[in-house]
Amino acid sequence: MSTDQPANAERDYLSSFTAHTRVVAAGRPARESDAGVNPSIDLNSTFIAPGSVGYGRYGNQTWSALESAIESLEGGKTLVFASGMAAISAVLSILPKGAVIVASRNGYTGTMTLLKRAQESGHAEVRYVDIANTQEVLAEIKGAMLLWIESPTNPALEVADLPTIIAAAKSINVGVAVDNTFATPLVQTPLAMGADVVIHSLTKYISGHSDVILGSISTNDDALLNRLNDARKMAGAIPGPFEVWIALRGLRTLALRMDRAQSNALELAIRLSSHPAVEKVRYPGLATDPHHAMAKSFMKGFGAVVSFDVKGGAQAADLACESSELVAFATSLGGVESLWERRHRWSAESPTIPTNLIRLSVGIEDVDDLWRDIDAALTKSQTFQK
Ligand SMILES: Cc1ncc(COP(=O)(O)O)c(C=O)c1O
Repeated sequence: MSTDQPANAERDYLSSFTAHTRVVAAGRPARESDAGVNPSIDLNSTFIAPGSVGYGRYGNQTWSALESAIESLEGGKTLVFASGMAAISAVLSILPKGAVIVASRNGYTGTMTLLKRAQESGHAEVRYVDIANTQEVLAEIKGAMLLWIESPTNPALEVADLPTIIAAAKSINVGVAVDNTFATPLVQTPLAMGADVVIHSLTKYISGHSDVILGSISTNDDALLNRLNDARKMAGAIPGPFEVWIALRGLRTLALRMDRAQSNALELAIRLSSHPAVEKVRYPGLATDPHHAMAKSFMKGFGAVVSFDVKGGAQAADLACESSELVAFATSLGGVESLWERRHRWSAESPTIPTNLIRLSVGIEDVDDLWRDIDAALTKSQTFQK
């Protein structure tokens, strides 16, 4: 969108491939003699006039490459932002004062904080719902301007009935935004279900190596795209070309990484379920999980985050996180390396999340190596009570 979105011919050519191929093939330069196979890192703050870009805060060839790659996965024209939070802020910034927003009561703490602030300042009225309770969502969206969906939710891993609630919202002209960070476009594509915008923290799975902070918004609505592009320009929430290039490089292995991370996540969730230090495991891939049937009905995978509650409370959970040697005690998710943390170490975490819940972002390491480390750390966590 910033400079030149892929030509229709490129779009048609890519659409004949599966997403596993598109992560590799999309966002490449045109195949001309001596063209690079990768886009260049476009280090320019300004461009010769007259032209379609004009200035470095309005567009950049490296942005365009990543934007067209995400477009080919999410199915909507895309804008990259300086962070996931910048993307979320851009969406909220274009709502008029007094807008009614229906949002999940569990979700990423940054989003929850923005919603709380919008409510407290009188900018918006926020109706919080259990996003996995379809009847509750359907009742609350009446008269709303925006349905904000995160699914699976961070960190409770609840799964919303996306096809039903998106269709219901659209049938009564409620706008729908979906934060697709946890699922990735390989697992679900909300624009195809009718959502108006899809948001990503590209920091996570799409970049995949815990080395950049970036975000994106995708939409099929040109008028909305223009407003969001204007919001990006005016807030100046723009990414650096180098970070964008790194993200595009990371995207090339998204399918391989997701396949491996998801199969590791399922195996670890199964093993955690019978670990004596674990009270409860939350992972929609487990057949016993309350969200399994819903996830299976429309998702093409279950993601690679596993949350679980540790016996012995918050201090035992902290001890587990501090005791691991392979799994890093750090926030964030979606990288090749496994990370974990007790979510309530952050004061903004929702009160509905148990204080002993650990969120484990499962990476692509050998699953037996991961298990040895997790098992040892959890076993040590139980010595806290003695
Ligand atoms: C679901 C979700 N959305 C958005 C964000 C914010 O993204 P960023 O850290 O790139 O600003 C996060 C960060 O953890 C997240 O988990």
